[in-house]
Amino acid sequence: MDDLTFARALHVLGVVVWVGGLYFVTFIVLPVARTLSNQGEDGVDLFEKAERRFTFHARVTVLLTGFSGFYMLHLLDAWERYLHIETWAVHAMTVLWLVFFLAVFIAEPLFLHRWFMQKAAANPSGMLRQAAIFHRLMIVWSLFTIAVAMFGAHA
Ligand code: HEM
Repeated sequence: MDDLTFARALHVLGVVVWVGGLYFVTFIVLPVARTLSNQGEDGVDLFEKAERRFTFHARVTVLLTGFSGFYMLHLLDAWERYLHIETWAVHAMTVLWLVFFLAVFIAEPLFLHRWFMQKAAANPSGMLRQAAIFHRLMIVWSLFTIAVAMFGAHA
């Protein structure tokens, strides 16, 4: 197996775990947490515990996806794709990756988690509703980017 195939396999594995986990939190964990919260139970606790466990997986897979992506650009000698609008699949992947990188390595440990918990203490259902909206936006964006990347690689 050559280096490019290996990097591509790692890249796709990283994407599968990361976006698959986001999908599960968005469409399974959050709706269950919101139902619990509407029934007067502690839905925030379920969401917070699930999200905290997923953070480790998200960090590892975001790093894996980023390293393998940049390594592929190096192997393909394709850095100039950043200079051409026709190869915007690379821009789309990189922007999404950057947003997640900043979210899980900077915003979440520095202030996002604390901010969410403060909001949850004041209004648990409102916080879960906002988290649901945010997660739905992110999963739609992520799935769209995967589709764009596939067209970019195989068109
Ligand atoms: C630093 C960020 C990233 C870089 C530099 C990057 C770079 C690349 C490169 C160079 C390829 C191969 C394209 C080709 O063969 O012509 C690729 C493929 C791909 N990337 Fe990314 N990528 C990044 C992030 C992402 C993200 C965030 C996603 C999805 C959420 C993603 C999904 C994919 C997919 C699905 C493929 C197609 C694999 C295939 O079918 O061959 N990438 N990426």
